[in-house]
Amino acid sequence: MKIGVLTGGGDCPGLNAVIRAIGRKGIVQYGDEIIGIKNGWAGLMKLNYIILERKALSGILHLGGTILGSSRTNPEKEEGGYTLIIENFKKLGLDALIVIGGNDTLGVAQKLHEMGIPIVGVPKTIDNDICATDMTFGFDTAVSVATEAIDRLHSTAESHHRCMVVEVMGRHAGWIATYSGIAGGADFILIPEEQYTLDDIITVLQRRIEKGKSFSIIVAAEGAKLKETGIIAQSKEMDDFGNVRLGGIGDGLARAIEKRTGIESRAVVLGHVQRGGTPTAFDRVLGTKYGVAAIELVHEGKFGMMTSLQGTKIKPVPILDGVKESKIVDKETYEVAKTFFE
Ligand code: F6P
Repeated sequence: MKIGVLTGGGDCPGLNAVIRAIGRKGIVQYGDEIIGIKNGWAGLMKLNYIILERKALSGILHLGGTILGSSRTNPEKEEGGYTLIIENFKKLGLDALIVIGGNDTLGVAQKLHEMGIPIVGVPKTIDNDICATDMTFGFDTAVSVATEAIDRLHSTAESHHRCMVVEVMGRHAGWIATYSGIAGGADFILIPEEQYTLDDIITVLQRRIEKGKSFSIIVAAEGAKLKETGIIAQSKEMDDFGNVRLGGIGDGLARAIEKRTGIESRAVVLGHVQRGGTPTAFDRVLGTKYGVAAIELVHEGKFGMMTSLQGTKIKPVPILDGVKESKIVDKETYEVAKTFFE
């Protein structure tokens, strides 16, 4: 078969593991021809692609980013975008397309599937906010990076008797904040799913001081909001999928805490560091399992499906089930985190 592969949306550690697995299994076991579409949907609209030969798939397993490039291009925003994609799919002589992406990219994949394009999805995002799968690859790496940062911030916070506010990624869901906060022993964790007042946080900080603790660590997801300020964005400009660029809650919170309590505070924004660099072993394995499963789904003709992790097993689920809403942090897990907001 001639199979196209593309990576769309924000990059994420483990993408190359998926591409490698798709290519290696497809070429070696099925004799497929694998076409790498460059830069997400933009590449399919511009016919920008490479033939992924066996050689191009070597030495990439441990590399961050994506050898195919990525973009947030939305065909819906381009005049005749979907028609162009369908025409180019035929022009390339593709039998199927494997789409590795988050909610936005897989949302487009679902529409194309409904228009008759044979598509298989692979769920990707450091945010871990895709439904119908226990986990997306990239999340484990992002949590590890954030946890290491929190560990490092502990010692400097303690030396200077400061409150450190660590801003992590997480637009609609606070998975990275919750997991890295639990792993790093945060004293307060703010996630987009909850509403907070400044008083909620200050009460915890003051209780810590009364207990003789001279420093605190707060982890805040970029999409979290205080009742007083609402969501904080760097600019109102939106990408093709209507997402604004978030950021600023860490700085806003650190300033507000210092002003109200006199506790010296600093904000640290981890930003794209969480998304870059080498994937953890877990993400390499998950990405590899997803890639192998995706090529099998193509050969079984299970289109409109995406790979998912259910416990320890990889199972196919409809792409539609994955993208119908954002998977938010479950109450039980956040309750575990709250145990330590003493
Ligand atoms: O891919 C998800 C994500 O990392 C979000 O956590 C974050 O809000 C966003 O992407 C940042 O996007 P960009 O790389 O376009 O600034």
